[in-house]
Formats: sequence, structure tokens, C-alpha cells
Amino acid sequence: MSDQPSLFDEPEDDSSFSQNTNDTSLMAEVKQLHDQLNQANYQYYVLDDPQLPDAEYDRLFHRLKEIETSHPECLTPDSPTQRVGAAPLSHFEQVTHDVPMLSLDNAFDAQDMRDFNRRVSERIKHVDEVFYACEPKLDGIAVSLLYEGGLLVRAATRGDGAVGENITQNIRTVPSIPLKLLGENYPAVLEVRGEVYMPKKGFNDFNEKARAREEKLFVNPRNAAAGSLRQLDPKITATRPLEFCCYSLGRAEGGEVPAKHSEILSQFSKWGFKINPEMRVVKGIEGCLEYYEQLAEKRNSLAYEIDGIVFKVDDINLQQQLGFVSRAPRWAIAHKFPAQEEMTLLKDVEFQVGRTGAITPVARLEPVFVGGVTVSNATLHNMDEIARLGVMVGDTVIIRRAGDVIPQIVSVVQSKRPASAKAIVFPLACPVCDSHIERIEGEAVSRCSGGLVCAAQRKEAIKHFASRKAMDIDGLGDKLVEQLVDEGLIESFLDLYSLKLDRLMNLERMGEKSAQNLLASIEASKQTTLPKFLYSLGIREVGVATAQNLVNHFLDLKILVKADLDALLEVDDVGPIVAEHILSFFAEPHNQKIIDGLLNIGISWPVIEKKDASELPLAGQTFVVTGTLASMGRDQAKDYLQRLGAKVAGSVSAKTHGLVAGEKAGSKLTKAQDLDVAILDETAFLALLNQHGISHVS
Ligand code: IVH
Repeated sequence: MSDQPSLFDEPEDDSSFSQNTNDTSLMAEVKQLHDQLNQANYQYYVLDDPQLPDAEYDRLFHRLKEIETSHPECLTPDSPTQRVGAAPLSHFEQVTHDVPMLSLDNAFDAQDMRDFNRRVSERIKHVDEVFYACEPKLDGIAVSLLYEGGLLVRAATRGDGAVGENITQNIRTVPSIPLKLLGENYPAVLEVRGEVYMPKKGFNDFNEKARAREEKLFVNPRNAAAGSLRQLDPKITATRPLEFCCYSLGRAEGGEVPAKHSEILSQFSKWGFKINPEMRVVKGIEGCLEYYEQLAEKRNSLAYEIDGIVFKVDDINLQQQLGFVSRAPRWAIAHKFPAQEEMTLLKDVEFQVGRTGAITPVARLEPVFVGGVTVSNATLHNMDEIARLGVMVGDTVIIRRAGDVIPQIVSVVQSKRPASAKAIVFPLACPVCDSHIERIEGEAVSRCSGGLVCAAQRKEAIKHFASRKAMDIDGLGDKLVEQLVDEGLIESFLDLYSLKLDRLMNLERMGEKSAQNLLASIEASKQTTLPKFLYSLGIREVGVATAQNLVNHFLDLKILVKADLDALLEVDDVGPIVAEHILSFFAEPHNQKIIDGLLNIGISWPVIEKKDASELPLAGQTFVVTGTLASMGRDQAKDYLQRLGAKVAGSVSAKTHGLVAGEKAGSKLTKAQDLDVAILDETAFLALLNQHGISHVS
């Protein structure tokens, strides 16, 4: 182990405190505290099923620490208080694996799998049907954990399979790894192998924080796990959200282990380890292929990254008969999923202009098949991201497309940079309208200052105006908007209302019937509601909920357009930034002209009766909506709540009166539970609406 003194260098006997202290009642208490805390840890981190309230855990932990401080002889290395605390190392010692840590052969398609099954079947002729244990192939770092007398005495990386590194100090900080095995009947020497990994949420949260602090990001969860375990200071590892899941036995001496791989894993679970809940035993190759399909479907919804499925002959006797070829067993194979990372060439960077003028650099790539689709574009976010990556045009880059997330460039392959690589220069003027580009201090985004003079912003503004939650113009999709602007038929959304049939009909891909339909839906859109109209104007930061709040407050557009800063700040959920955007929008003569024009061509909405807001049934109450509701969208739910006079906020706080929680509600639900905020499931929410005269039909 380390050259430096460490609390954990010499594994002590589990019963050490009983030899050193003669206070038997204290000894018994310490033993009981260990058991209670270990059990609580197991339920929380291994089974994902917390049983002990946090406060009670803290109380027990604190009591144990107190005893250990006043009676140091009670302190043992397996104490639940001793996960972090060792001094930083100067380097990692080498560990020779008694039983080599093998790697796996890969299968890339069903045929490779059938070939594998045939090879297995041919070698074990007398067995009719082979049973396979199937497990997700976790994308992390393989480690070996050595337990002697039930205590964790050494943890090592795989290294080259024969020699790895001693990472015991770091491994002790991983909460799902038992420092002492649970139960009694474990072998005197037990080596457990498995994967340390960083779940997707922990990875994303970590990177988000690193980005905010302008620190280095991890490119994927596997690198995050590796980087975290490679720390010489275990205090750093302790801050990383790592988990461990075991997947095989290294060796067992002085005790029994079952004769099936799947049963060994179940036994590991009883000794305190996390095993993969997706593990199944299937019959024959068809069972394997079916399992693969099922998991492929589930892949994106799992909490951790997997890069394939590992299939293992379940019977250990058969495994022994099959043996190994070079460094891979004949009894196991990894059926890989399509890769989520690939290398490709960055051919060019173009700058796109969005509705609010935000300029986004977009990478044009040599098309590459990654994560199951062909990718030819990836966002580069902003100039800070380009600087962080140090990327140049002509570089070979690593593209990552995990799940449904938009493709990202995660790193540059520096060694492949050609001499001709070109720096990416952010334009000084808008690539579409040539207006100058502004970058506000402290904001990462650069914007075109051209407003509606800029064709790109105009197109985006018209698309927004026509969208479903805005003026809801049926049949006016993004492509058609582009065509109308490019052909010079419209410049602003006001022009939509003077479109003529003969011009429209003559557009490419447009017949008389569709032109008539389009004109009819444009005409129909004139009957709208004030909140929709307001939202459709595309004022920055004014979404559906803010538009509704503004209408609830001012009731009339005439009053709203004249509102000053103080008046705007009185509106629910409107802060100084949103208020400034609203003020500058209405102050702009061009926008005033468009609004007047829209009203003149007959856009109208039902007059909103002046109601004393305090008379409304939910007046003075704040609600939050989260999760998926089966009968309506979240916007609809918010709309109803606002109609009943409630404020709708984006996050739960002690001031929240109720949380409407649909399916898959996440952290907001937990927070509401913690704060004792009333929680309404969909049925309760519909009942509340009903009670106040709203009968929703989905
Ligand atoms: S079994 C002899 N099972 O995949 C069998 N490996 O290429 C050895 N891995 O280094 C491994 N999940 O890090 C096994 N359920 C699983 C696994 C798994 C991930 C990794 C492991 C190993 C690599 C093999």
C-alpha cells in the first residue's frame, strides 16, 4: 500500500475492540451501531430502498463517532465512519492478480452470437440446452475487491489483467461497497469482481457544475469513473457519485459458493453487494437474442450507461470445461450495442441565427454512424465551448450521441490535426443580415442586433407566431415559412394576413387546394385569446405561463403595452430581466407597427372581464406542475390553475401550496415531500378542477 501512514494499511481483526476495551456494554453498543449503519447503507445504496430516516442515520453515525473519539480502542478499520480519512498517496502500488482478470470477446450482431453459441454447444456435446446468465455490460472500470475474514483488505484495478493498481483507499469511499460483508457464512478469502461506474445523473450534474466553474469536463461516464478512481487523494474520490455492481467471483477459499453464476450473484447480494437487477437466466441462443432486444429498448431509460450485454454460461462446471482462449473465456461473450462515440472529420463550422438573434456555431461533419443514426451536424453551443474544446476546422473529433441527446463534440484527437487546420473565427457581423453582433458581459451567447431586419430572426419569429401554442396556424410548417420568406412573399408575420391565393398556388410543392386550406387556417387564426396573441409576439423570455400571468394582471393589451417597469414587476414571476425585455419590445416602433397592423386586420379575442382576483378560488396560492399527466399537457394544467387565480411557479419552495405531480415526477416531488407541500396526483387535480367548475375532457 502507501508509503505514507494510513489508517487502513494494516487490516485489523474485526474483533479488535473487544480485545482492547473491557467495557462490554460499550462494545455491544459499537457492534450494534456498526450493524445498524451497515444495514442502512446496504438498504440505501445497494438495494435503493432506504428504510432508516436520514435524521436517524445521522444520529447513529454521530453516536458512533462520539464513542470512537472518547474510546479510540473502539475504532476499527471496518467502522462505517472510516470510509474517508486516509491521507493522499504519492503513487499507486502494483497488485498482482492471483487469478488473472480476463477480458471478453465481442459479438456485433446476431450471427456472431449464433457462432458463439455453436462453439459452446460443440464443446459440451452431452448438454441439450445451454442456460446463459445475461447482464448489462456496464460502462465503467473493472475492479477486484479482496475480503479476508469478511473485511475489505484490498481493492485493485484490472490493469493489464495480470497486474493492476492498488486503489483500496479510493474504493473504501464508494458507499455501495461493503467494508465488512453482511451475514455470516462467507468464505475466509473472497475476491469479488465488478464494475465501478458513474450513473448518468451523477455524471451530468458533475459536468454541469464543472462547466459553471469553467473546469475540465469528463467526456463520458466511463472516463468520469476512471478519472475519479485515479485520484491519489481519496477525499476527492469521495465527492464523486460512484457506484459498484458486482458481476463475477474472483476466488473463494475456506467456504462454499454456489455452482451457478446466477446463484453466486444472488449470494453476493446477500453478502452486501449490489447486483444488476436486470440479470436474467435464459435458455439457449434464442433467449439471448430476445434479452438483447429487450435491453436495447430499455437502454436509454436505464440510470447508467451500458455498451452491450454480457452472456455467460450459467453452470460453473460447464464454464470450467470450456476454459479460456488467450485472455478471454470461451464461456462468455459481450454482444455490443452500436457505439455512442465515433471519430469523424470537422469539415466546417457555420453560424446559425435563432429567433432571439442568438448565434450558435454548428459543426458540419463528415457523416458518421453513431448511437444508431447517421450524424452530420453537431452543436458547438457558443464560443466558450469552442475555446474549451480547442477545436479547429479540419480536426478529427470524437462525436457522442447518447440516447436522444443531440450529438455533441466531446473532444479533439490532437494527434490527427493537419497542418492546414483553421481556427474557428466568430463572425463580427450577422452572417444573415450583416448587423453587428453583441455579446453581453457575463452571458455566453452572442446575438445579432438586427432584430426583425434579420431574415433568420424573421423566419424564426414567423415559425413561432404560427406554432400551436401561439396563433396555431394549421398547415404552416417550418419549411413553408422558409419558402415564403425566401420567395419574398412575406417579411413579417403581419404579411401572412395579406397572402393571396394566386401567388401561393404558384409556389413549388403547393397546389390550389393546399393554398386554400392555408388561407383558411390563417383566417381562422384571427379568432384567438389574448394570452396566445401575446405569446405569439415572441417577446424574449415570455413563454406561455408568463403571457398568461401578464394577461391575468393587466386584462387588456392597451394597459399592458403602456405598463412601466414598476407595474410589470408586480406581475407574478416577472423579474427585472423579463420586465426589461417586455419594455424594450413595446418601445420599438417596428413592433408597435406590427401590433397595430395585426389588430387592424381583425385579430381579436374575447374581452376579459375585470374580476377581483381575490375572488378567484385559488387566489393567493402558488402551485407547481411536474411530471407527465395522462389527460393533458403541463401547459394546459398551468392554464387551468391560473384561471382559478393560482400563481404557477417553476420550483417548489416552502411557500408552495400544492404540487400537481404526474407520472415520472422527479426531484420536485421529493422536495415537496420533504417540505410537506400538498401533493395532488392527476385524479386529485382533476377533482380540484371539477370542484371549481372546470370539467376537463382529454
Ligand atoms: S464479465 C471473464 N460482466 O467488460 C469475464 N464484464 O471486456 C470478465 N464489464 O473488463 C468480465 N459489465 O470491465 C463482465 N456484467 C459484466 C460486465 C463486464 C462490464 C466489463 C469489465 C471487463 C470488460 C470486458
